[in-house]
Amino acid sequence: MSNAGDRAVGSGLTVAVVGGTGTVGAPVAAALLARDATVRVLTRNRANVPAGAEHRRVDLISGEGIAEALAGADAVVDAVNSTRRPKKTLVEGTGRLLEAGAAAGVGHHVTISIVGVEHIPSSYYRHKIAQERAVEAGPVPWSILRATQFHQLLDMAFGFAARVGLRPTGAGMLQPMDPLVAAERLADAALAEPAGRLPDIAGPRITTISELSDAWAIARRRRRLPLRIPSIGKAGKAIAAGELCAPDGAAGGKDFEEWLRHR
Ligand SMILES: NC(=O)c1ccc[n+]([C@@H]2O[C@H](COP(=O)([O-])OP(=O)(O)OC[C@H]3O[C@@H](n4cnc5c(N)ncnc54)[C@H](OP(=O)(O)O)[C@@H]3O)[C@@H](O)[C@H]2O)c1
Repeated sequence: MSNAGDRAVGSGLTVAVVGGTGTVGAPVAAALLARDATVRVLTRNRANVPAGAEHRRVDLISGEGIAEALAGADAVVDAVNSTRRPKKTLVEGTGRLLEAGAAAGVGHHVTISIVGVEHIPSSYYRHKIAQERAVEAGPVPWSILRATQFHQLLDMAFGFAARVGLRPTGAGMLQPMDPLVAAERLADAALAEPAGRLPDIAGPRITTISELSDAWAIARRRRRLPLRIPSIGKAGKAIAAGELCAPDGAAGGKDFEEWLRHR
């Protein structure tokens, strides 16, 4: 990699965005292109590759295409996701990316994780922690950005509940964010020096689940039977205590209500 002074806007670095067609990955690719980086999008499918980016077919589970796709890359942003196969994709896939990255001379591996990830005892969250550990212990200098829930995730969750006639309510607290804001931060990180754990990033407002679901029901015009989610169990207590929020990380961008209005 070139020295830090070269790594400003217009640095001409080549960045591989793994998962660069996803909710946060596509805007990361776009943000890097806007900073004059050469962008390679690494995914299994070609659909939705941002204009101006190259595409390389890569499968993190089988390992297909990884080594070829990372040849000559200065940095990697890992924005892959899989809730169905988190171990194979996020943990083992990260191992493959790091190994191939080290062999290819990649100088910086950037990963996105989740604020408060250690507080939720689910398989997916446990695998996100394992992914973080793999990056921290891996052979490539790294940065990890933890972000709060994206608006799309809540939109999808309230949509699922509405389909069975329900509207989740509760005192649990979230600070959802527009992934465009996280994407800008990830793009900046990829063009800067590896920095380890970056300051957490979050949406502009801390809101209860009840307030979020009210906003959703109004915006989508889908009134449903309220279903109170009790703050029980480790996850419920953590959400009630605001462990998934990052008040100091409040960034700009649309809050959930504004985001719904502009969809
Ligand atoms: N969603 C949230 O609320 C949220 C909040 C904070 C942090 N995060 C983190 O942000 C990251 C991205 O999440 P997202 O919601 O933006 O993901 P997403 O929209 O589901 O996109 C997933 C991306 O990963 C690619 N992918 C999936 N399996 C792959 C494989 N085996 N090999 C290569 N590419 C693969 C997909 O493309 P193909 O299917 O074409 O391969 C797609 O580009 C995750 O690490 C997640 O934990 C998410």
